[in-house]
Amino acid sequence: MSAFVTEWARAQGQKGATSKSTPVFYRNLEAELDVRRKRGSLMRPHVKEGITDFSSGDSLGLLSSGALKDAFLEEFKDLPNGRMTIPGSRLSDGNSKYLEQLEKEIAEFHNAENALVVNSGCVANMAIFSTIPLAGDAILYDELVHASIHDGMKNSVARCQKSFLHNDVDSFSDTLQSIVESEPQIRNGTRSVIVSVESVYSMDGDICILQELIDAAKEILTHDNALFIIDEAYGTGILGPKGSGLVCELGLEKEVGIRLHTFPKALGSTGSAILANDTVKMMLMNNARSLLFTGVPSFPMLASIRAAYRLLRSGSTIESQNKVQHLVKLFLKTIRSHPVWERASSLGILRIPLYEGDDDPEVVSQILPIWTRAKHNLYLAFHVNQAGYSGYPVVFPVVPKGQERVRFLFQAAQTDEHVKAFADCICSWAEEMLEIEDSGDLNRLPTAARDAYAIMSEFENNSK
Ligand SMILES: Cc1ncc(COP(=O)(O)O)c(C=O)c1O
Repeated sequence: MSAFVTEWARAQGQKGATSKSTPVFYRNLEAELDVRRKRGSLMRPHVKEGITDFSSGDSLGLLSSGALKDAFLEEFKDLPNGRMTIPGSRLSDGNSKYLEQLEKEIAEFHNAENALVVNSGCVANMAIFSTIPLAGDAILYDELVHASIHDGMKNSVARCQKSFLHNDVDSFSDTLQSIVESEPQIRNGTRSVIVSVESVYSMDGDICILQELIDAAKEILTHDNALFIIDEAYGTGILGPKGSGLVCELGLEKEVGIRLHTFPKALGSTGSAILANDTVKMMLMNNARSLLFTGVPSFPMLASIRAAYRLLRSGSTIESQNKVQHLVKLFLKTIRSHPVWERASSLGILRIPLYEGDDDPEVVSQILPIWTRAKHNLYLAFHVNQAGYSGYPVVFPVVPKGQERVRFLFQAAQTDEHVKAFADCICSWAEEMLEIEDSGDLNRLPTAARDAYAIMSEFENNSK
């Protein structure tokens, strides 16, 4: 049984803390967890072993190939005084020449004025969105931006916060126009519109129509008072020259005020870098609570980031970048030419909305979500995991209700054979679902789901 399925089953079945002798506080927490159990969406961590990776962000294979480890060990030797960190925040004791040098190198690589390295992408977004938009500014954000951007916006003084339909330039223009009409200070150019987008949307896998949005903003905001902020979490290492991101790919460095590159994905590390000018950097360092009241990133973390950038700069990751493009396109071709595809997709058993109507996408991202019917995403995830591939269900509230999917990530370490066998594996699940549909027995579960529910019952019985 795959670790994912076992831990899923354990999570749904485990109700040990609900007995009367348990303090009320824990019983109430269990009641909250029960809400997720009812949806089958309570998760426990599991350790992935002996499985072909179609879920992690190691898209360039820096971790699986050992390339980052070697580069890190080399870099680690030069750590200042062999220290792990300097206890303190950036503005007190935490600064170092090493960190300043790293920021300089990162800024140069991305053709940015300045960089600020912080502990994580989440922390960075909370810092940016709680600090940069000022009272009287408006925030206009794509409806699918990351949860950490929403968390930052909750702490923002910007009164006007509006979303536009995902990657839709008409909706962007209409919403921006309505902001101009309702906000006199934006109309007269004394306040700004802060636009929030991502280069690759993490749950949908599509790429931002950045140039179109910038052009539209220029037309509507005649005082040049738009500030674009782009989260390049999944663009880092994957898009642009040597993986420098979408902004560099499009040559829009001067048009985008703030870029966020996070490192736990293709760079195989942790932390993030905020690219911006000195004004923004000073503002963040001095006013962002999530940066002020925390320690600086440790030296091993900085060394791993520096090692990853050395690899990017050397050009040694370009081949992997190209391979990801090849593998995603191969997968699309393979699955679409499978005999079951036509019927399964027309019945909504398997769908890839991202590439519907696009037979030959020019540039793809590493993320490919497969949509299923409601709740069936769990069954598909069980199926692939049982067959030896990782891939996880994405459920509400991460995506809107009715948009359940399993999200797969392609990686340079995969081979053509892996990808073709993986597409076949997904199609074998669709065949089983169609067989169930044709049998008229709508209570019948597909095999992997039956197995998962059987273990769940075992866990439940054992905890009674
Ligand atoms: C678009 C986006 N931004 C930010 C983050 C958070 O980055 P980190 O893992 O460095 O906190 C994520 C993480 O998944 C993400 O997908």
